Amino acid sequence: MEIRATNTSQLEWAGDALAIGLFEDAIELTGDMAKLDELLAGTLSELIAETEFKGKINSSASTRVGGKNPIRKIIIVGLGKSEDLKLDTLRQAAGISGRLAKQERCKTLGISLPICQDANSTATAITEGIELVLHQDNRFKSELENLGTDVEKVELISLAGVDEAIARARQICSGVILARELVAAPANSCTPITMAETAEALAQEFGLELEILEKEDCEKLGMGAFLGVAQASDLPPKFIHITYKPEGTPRRKLAIVGKGLTFDSGGLNLKVGGSSIEMMKTDMSGAGATFGAVKAIAQLKPDVEVHFISAVTENMISGHAMHPGDFLTASNGKTIEVNNTDAEGRLTLADALVFAEKLEVDAIVDLATLTGACVVALGNDIAGLWSPNDDLAAELTAAAEKSGEKMWRMPLEEKYFEGMKAIHADMKNTGPRPGGAITAALFLKQFIKDTPWAHLDIAGTAWVDAEDGYNNTGATGYGVRTLVNWVLS
Ligand code: BES
Ligand code: MN
Ligand code: ZN
Repeated sequence: MEIRATNTSQLEWAGDALAIGLFEDAIELTGDMAKLDELLAGTLSELIAETEFKGKINSSASTRVGGKNPIRKIIIVGLGKSEDLKLDTLRQAAGISGRLAKQERCKTLGISLPICQDANSTATAITEGIELVLHQDNRFKSELENLGTDVEKVELISLAGVDEAIARARQICSGVILARELVAAPANSCTPITMAETAEALAQEFGLELEILEKEDCEKLGMGAFLGVAQASDLPPKFIHITYKPEGTPRRKLAIVGKGLTFDSGGLNLKVGGSSIEMMKTDMSGAGATFGAVKAIAQLKPDVEVHFISAVTENMISGHAMHPGDFLTASNGKTIEVNNTDAEGRLTLADALVFAEKLEVDAIVDLATLTGACVVALGNDIAGLWSPNDDLAAELTAAAEKSGEKMWRMPLEEKYFEGMKAIHADMKNTGPRPGGAITAALFLKQFIKDTPWAHLDIAGTAWVDAEDGYNNTGATGYGVRTLVNWVLS
């Protein structure tokens, strides 16, 4: 598919489908819209009247344009109130347009949307909307499922000079798509071994440094928390560390750490009915976003050194599984009473965070499908953000705002750590049910000394079910775009 910007106005554009955005408060056609309506012999005003189109956000309608017009179909997409226009509105509108064009079997699509912020940000959002909605994951289908036709060419109308922004947005999308594919792949296809292979392929393709610590290497580093989780699996754990280094002196050194459980059965505290055990292939979404960010950043080549880290394993049951109540010693020497083997993500992250801090980076961000409690608190659209560092929290909030990935800062209420006190070990890995996402974050904090650190709980946002999904269902690739914006900021 080709995506390009064009100076051509919507009045002159020729192709299969022309998509235009309409504001709620500008539904009466004036100016260029009136001219377009005239050109289309009133088709536009008829479409608006017949579908009772009000310009509400994410609403849409389309119809055939008759006669010898240079366009075949007209698509209208609601943008809500003009004063509320956000980049994400454009991203969604572009996604809706792309999907409709495909369904309506249009090979060429012209998109005419207003500018939000500036031309480059506008082009980025539109490109992301199109690229991500049109990507179809057919890897596991025996027959190609193609609901419509392939859109071959997309033109961003009246937006010349943004080709660089489009190209960069497409590189970012390639990272989002990688993250989605990794998360969507089931646990009998995506394993610690295949994750290591993916890391190798990325390192090879983009010339990145790669370090894979095998079980014995992790033992030498004293990663008892990570290895405790890994010990029941028939598959070997893989501690993956990919480094992107810019040419010249880096402006900053950063670390991104992703939870990488290719499957979470719960361990001997086995997940029971209703706990979505069958969805636990998604428990490596943090690692998926991390790898997605590798792919994007390796192409964008910022002047920042970035370390991408994931302690990848499965949480399984077997005769050599951790017993509930076992004590583990993490690589910083702290001892943990595992009062619940299903709180495994924080155990793997503990050793990954200690490892990241030893790299002497300026900041560490971890992403993890860590707690059901975070899903209860914030639902499926908003990730939880915890950080003791206001500057880092602000950086991430700004990066998320730009990407349209929602997150909300949550408190690191130190008092709640009292619930994690153990009698004979330094701490337990789980506290009481109330505040479960907060105590999980407080647990992670024990493994950071003084590097600015932030934790993102993406348990809700990593996956969207068919009934909730608008432009995307299944794996979302949540986090990649925010991480990229953060690294570039
Ligand atoms: N991977 C789960 C969290 C999760 C839940 C992710 C739902 C995605 C959707 C995590 O390892 C887990 O099991 N957490 C427990 C913690 C509890 C034992 C303190 C939970 O949230 O129930
Ligand atoms: Mn678990
Ligand atoms: Zn888990």
